[in-house]
Amino acid sequence: MILSNNITRGEDGSLRFAGWSVPELAKQYGTPLYLMDEKRIRHNCRLYTGSFRDCFGENAMPIYAGKAAAFKRIYAIVKEAGMGIDAVSPGEIHTALSAGFPPEKIYFHGDGKTDADISYALDHGVGWFIVDNPDELLALSAIAAARGAVQKVLLRVTPGIDPHTYQSVNTGTVDVKFGVPMETGQALAFVHQALSLPGLDVRGLHCHVGSEVFDETVFEDTVDVMTDFMQQIRERFGFVTQVLNVGGGYGVRYLDTDKRIDIPARIRAVAEHLKERCAAFGLELPFFMMEPGRSIVADAGMTVYTVSSVKRIPGYKYYVVVDGGMTDNPRYPLYHAPYTVLNADRETLFYAVYDLAGRCCESGDIIQPSVKLPDDTARGDHIAVCTTGAYNYSMASNYNRLPRPPIVMLTEENSYVAVRRETLEDLNALDL
Ligand code: LLP
Repeated sequence: MILSNNITRGEDGSLRFAGWSVPELAKQYGTPLYLMDEKRIRHNCRLYTGSFRDCFGENAMPIYAGKAAAFKRIYAIVKEAGMGIDAVSPGEIHTALSAGFPPEKIYFHGDGKTDADISYALDHGVGWFIVDNPDELLALSAIAAARGAVQKVLLRVTPGIDPHTYQSVNTGTVDVKFGVPMETGQALAFVHQALSLPGLDVRGLHCHVGSEVFDETVFEDTVDVMTDFMQQIRERFGFVTQVLNVGGGYGVRYLDTDKRIDIPARIRAVAEHLKERCAAFGLELPFFMMEPGRSIVADAGMTVYTVSSVKRIPGYKYYVVVDGGMTDNPRYPLYHAPYTVLNADRETLFYAVYDLAGRCCESGDIIQPSVKLPDDTARGDHIAVCTTGAYNYSMASNYNRLPRPPIVMLTEENSYVAVRRETLEDLNALDL
């Protein structure tokens, strides 16, 4: 086992993912290639659904944050798991609906919904809106009321909690662009306003403090702040919070040195804490929700490349250049995100340190710096980057007019293409 128990080496030293030979898959499907371990996705879903059921019975539901990886097959798997989804755009909603996902279990998020987005979601019977701000609230109210509709909503508030994660995924502190802050009193006014508007059925609250969260107490702290707020809005407006969604965010292991989070244990602790707090305040236990993305799909993913060149600059640096890059994985250039990188074909006694570079025309196109790979790594070798199931395909681009890789799903019985490789014709498809 390397990093995760779905990554092993065969007797010949070649890499196996979900029991399948990675070099063989590379040969069969070509590279660059995204692989996804379907069994692992289902397992990760069950970590949430199982512990939600144990802790709350039917009074809770985890929803999958599709932004981590959105394509039809994944929505079908999540549907089978009995989860809802968090969708942030008509594109994600359309993909989910095309996969037969029930619209009533779609929670429409986002801080920038346009009138057209709102109408699209109403047209398609999307069950829930997570309203991010007063402008959206007014727009949704007007559009829903004009149709004679009443839309279920959760109000997104910002609890003022630092999730101790990296800057671009911190969404909990007062000064972020998401939600309405409590500290300034604006969240109270937001709830008050929502309760007075037509076309809205205000059911509860939403918050999300950040992503790649390892800190043990972040969700308990969030529950503290949210239950305080629930009590305040009950006192001030007589409003009973029927639904409480505390967002996503549990971190995953990109490196062997990363902590392993016991998700069911964490959920149990959060559930107990919420129950205690509600009992102490005499609050009705709300329908409880979390919306994990990364922890559902990250360790189900692996990206496979073929080496195009190896550049050794004596006294300076060694590079391994592969046939993909920041187009299929922009996370190192964006966040300095760490990854475990392996030669998929073989192990060796002697290693050298290389920067794993992509094929894009900029020096910043580094998939991962300073990785240990066999010292004789050469053109044609296969390189695997682990834990790429989240925020890789979904953040991929066509920079330099590079086609996006396919996603091949691995089950115990077979492998199949869930998203096909883009062709050169696809790249021209929109040009008139
Ligand atoms: N709910 C909301 C409102 C969110 O904004 C997010 C993530 C999630 C749930 C899911 O969080 P997760 O369980 O995946 O941590 N592109 C970045 C991650 C951005 C996260 C955005 N929001 C990355 O590649 O690390």
